[in-house]
Amino acid sequence: NEGSLWGARFASGPSPELQALSRSTHFDWQLAPYDLAGSRAHARALSAAGYLDADELARMIAGLDRLEADVASGTLLPTDADEDVHGALEAALIEVVGPELGGKLRAGRSRNDQIATLVRLYLRDHAAVIGTQLVHLIDALAAQADAHREAILPGRTHLQHAQPVLLAHHLLAHAWALSRDLERIADWDKRANVSPYGSGALAGSTLGLDAASVAHDLGLGGVVENSIDGTASRDVVAEFAFITAQIGVDLSRISEEIILWNTREFAFVTLHDGYSTGSSIMPQKKNPDIAELARGKSGRLIGNLTGLLTTLKGLPLAYNRDLQEDKEPVFDSVETLEVLLPAFTGMVSTLTFHTERMAELAPQGFSLATDVAEWLVKRHVPFRDAHEITGALVRAAEERGVDLAGLSDDELAAVSPLLEPSVRDVLTIEGSVASRDGLGGTAPARVADQFTALTARIRLL
Ligand code: ARG
Repeated sequence: NEGSLWGARFASGPSPELQALSRSTHFDWQLAPYDLAGSRAHARALSAAGYLDADELARMIAGLDRLEADVASGTLLPTDADEDVHGALEAALIEVVGPELGGKLRAGRSRNDQIATLVRLYLRDHAAVIGTQLVHLIDALAAQADAHREAILPGRTHLQHAQPVLLAHHLLAHAWALSRDLERIADWDKRANVSPYGSGALAGSTLGLDAASVAHDLGLGGVVENSIDGTASRDVVAEFAFITAQIGVDLSRISEEIILWNTREFAFVTLHDGYSTGSSIMPQKKNPDIAELARGKSGRLIGNLTGLLTTLKGLPLAYNRDLQEDKEPVFDSVETLEVLLPAFTGMVSTLTFHTERMAELAPQGFSLATDVAEWLVKRHVPFRDAHEITGALVRAAEERGVDLAGLSDDELAAVSPLLEPSVRDVLTIEGSVASRDGLGGTAPARVADQFTALTARIRLL
């Protein structure tokens, strides 16, 4: 079984069916640069422990560097005979440095501790990419909010008009959610930043290799405390898949609103031509495909997470081949987000908001009723009574077919003598918004605070 990492104890080589099933190079080949980085670190540890002399180490490192260049240029590719990235690269190394030296590299490590380390290296690199993309999206939302500091939006609960809010407040609500995703990535990294290299197959190594220096070479902050845990657990992968799924969910919430806002009925936004699509049959169509794809892809991201958790559930310690199934879902989640986020950010930053339309609709549906009730409370009416009086006011306005502000002074007084004409002060959307000035409220002053707070939060991450 030439070129394989195992075989001596077998009377025959692997069947073609087994090879077809077992092969993982079509997805793990992208870990080749990390595998080679691990090999260089491992070679230095072998040398420090006396298993490679200075000349051997130099030749080994040169060989690994050469492989790295060949992988990067695409001249080195796995063959059908290779089971995985590790085997393919060992076979290639042996071709470059010869079997005598090439055969020494595998001492004291296993594909089990290798793969557990490589997936962390891959995820940490991509976490940085996704983190930067998220910052760009948060910036785009904040910039839109900043450009519309005064604009009023009909705030909704149950998708019904509830209370008017500032458009900026609403957009920043999405930005805050995304800032927590960013925070999650930063927190996840504490757990990802630990090296399983040196755990061997499951029990550690007899060779006295310095796992801490390997970790350091790989840019990892420390070494796992338990070799069984290091090789058998994938919670760090699942947690990353969760973060990507949560980002997907957060994007899908924005998407749903953009899709609604972009309808003729809402007419709150117009999408930029460069970030919308046409129809093959209906010449007039201009569709919000980016938002729809984002909404759809959130399902895919959730699926990747649930698939991965299902694979991990009930696995006994230590390494099981089931664990190979961790990579395709999490790679897919990473690739999905890395393509989606830039398009999404482009869509958000080029959105045109029709603020006059939003402002016109904001008071409709009696969205100022809570302001009336709270006006009564400020005059020491128990809220229960205030709620009743305001409810009756809404009924009177509805019967008359007018807004609350459309009722005459006499009509107000007829509902309750407590409803003096000065109640009109709170019957404007601007007044309503400005008066919600408690911490985190939609008043312009509180929204202004948020810009500073959000920027500070993101700086910290
Ligand atoms: N390809 C495997 C994985 O992704 C790593 C190799 C471990 N294989 C083994 N037979 N122990 O998890």
